[in-house]
Amino acid sequence: MKILVIGSGGREHALVWKLKQSPRVSEIFCAPGNAGIGMLATNVPLPISDHAGLVKFARAEGIDLTVVGPDDALAAGIVDHFEHAGLRIFGPAQAAARLESSKVFAKEFMQRHGIPTAASGHFTDSTAAHRFCQTSRYPLVIKADGLALGKGVIIAQTPWEAAQAVHTIMEERRFGAAGDRVVIEEFLTGQECSVHALVDGEHYMLFPAAQDHKQIFDGDQGPNTGGMGTFSPPDKLVTPEIVERIHREVMEPFMAGLKKDGLRFRGLLFPGLMITAEGPKVLEFNCRFGDPETQVLLPRLRNDLAELLEATIDGKLDTIQPAWDPRAAVCVVMASGGYPGSYSKGKKITGIEDAEALEGVTVFHAGTQWDDEKNLITAGGRVLGVTALGAGLGAAQARAYEAVERIHFEGATFRRDIGAKGL
Ligand SMILES: Nc1ncnc2c1ncn2[C@@H]1O[C@H](COP(=O)(O)OP(=O)(O)O)[C@@H](O)[C@H]1O
Ligand SMILES: [Mg+2]
Repeated sequence: MKILVIGSGGREHALVWKLKQSPRVSEIFCAPGNAGIGMLATNVPLPISDHAGLVKFARAEGIDLTVVGPDDALAAGIVDHFEHAGLRIFGPAQAAARLESSKVFAKEFMQRHGIPTAASGHFTDSTAAHRFCQTSRYPLVIKADGLALGKGVIIAQTPWEAAQAVHTIMEERRFGAAGDRVVIEEFLTGQECSVHALVDGEHYMLFPAAQDHKQIFDGDQGPNTGGMGTFSPPDKLVTPEIVERIHREVMEPFMAGLKKDGLRFRGLLFPGLMITAEGPKVLEFNCRFGDPETQVLLPRLRNDLAELLEATIDGKLDTIQPAWDPRAAVCVVMASGGYPGSYSKGKKITGIEDAEALEGVTVFHAGTQWDDEKNLITAGGRVLGVTALGAGLGAAQARAYEAVERIHFEGATFRRDIGAKGL
């Protein structure tokens, strides 16, 4: 089977790495890919937004299955384009991907189907939104409706901050059309976790949970990033009782809701959850693999990923017995100095081979490329996801940091406490 993966981050490197281990897979292409992906697959220099070009490539190359990484491709309807062309592709069609691309749509879905989430109001009119902020309790959470590169959510401590947030999103239109509507919701207290489930429309397969570290600095300080590291499993937070509640209160009503609404969803559902004193509540739905969650989940997956993705498309997830490595995994993201603000590129990266010589260590590339002299150089904010398996969380963490110490590039920035909240 020939596979095309779409995307260029650490998530896509992990997908390619895992698919490469499948005896069903003969060849992998990745558009546009990165330097690490290029060592396992053939990089195809087509932008993610060029659906027609990607369809043409998949036809010409005889691609049997395409796997979509990023949310914006799904929101733009890449799955619909491929299916119209008679090509097999993993991911929800545009109508179902609205669960991620519109927070209003997702909130209405949750409210209709009794899925626990923060109480909220939705506004298309900034005057009404301002009025709502004046009569709410604080802190208050203001969210742009559409995709905003993870920057469209503002937690306001005071009515003044809330008014600023509504102004930024709806009047100044900092996120463009993503700010045509806002969701204003109750602030939830608790710890967050990431849940992944393959969904074939009839059945779902829940993965072990993971925990992300979104802020740039240790102790969850500083601005949010795309994710500075992950670990799995977060057993202290996601106890067997919580897992049971995720099945009963989130996944089962989600599956029933798809049916009632006539939404066809075949792909990966990744609810972001807040584990509150009252139990799990959904902060948002993502409709694709998480980044950097994928980097700790796939090393723990024992099944053949190609088989799982095909079973999802074919509605046969019930025929598969999931198998997970009991070891823990920790992924430490190494980023460019200055990230998530401005940073420079083109810094030479060394030591990856030494890091991967350590037992259980895999280094997933994100923003990397080769320069003209065949040096590996930095080419993005998040550069590498250094992932280690270990007998327990502590062992995985120690091994991941041992690996990080072997890797060097000028200005390298990383958190030193990935996994600490799970110990
Ligand atoms: N109701 C809420 N209460 C507390 N924190 C929240 C709430 N909603 C969102 N957050 C915080 O904001 C982050 C981003 O919100 P989310 O809905 O996941 O949007 P996105 O990932 O699209 O930016 C969450 O990971 C969480 O830390
Ligand atoms: Mg989120």
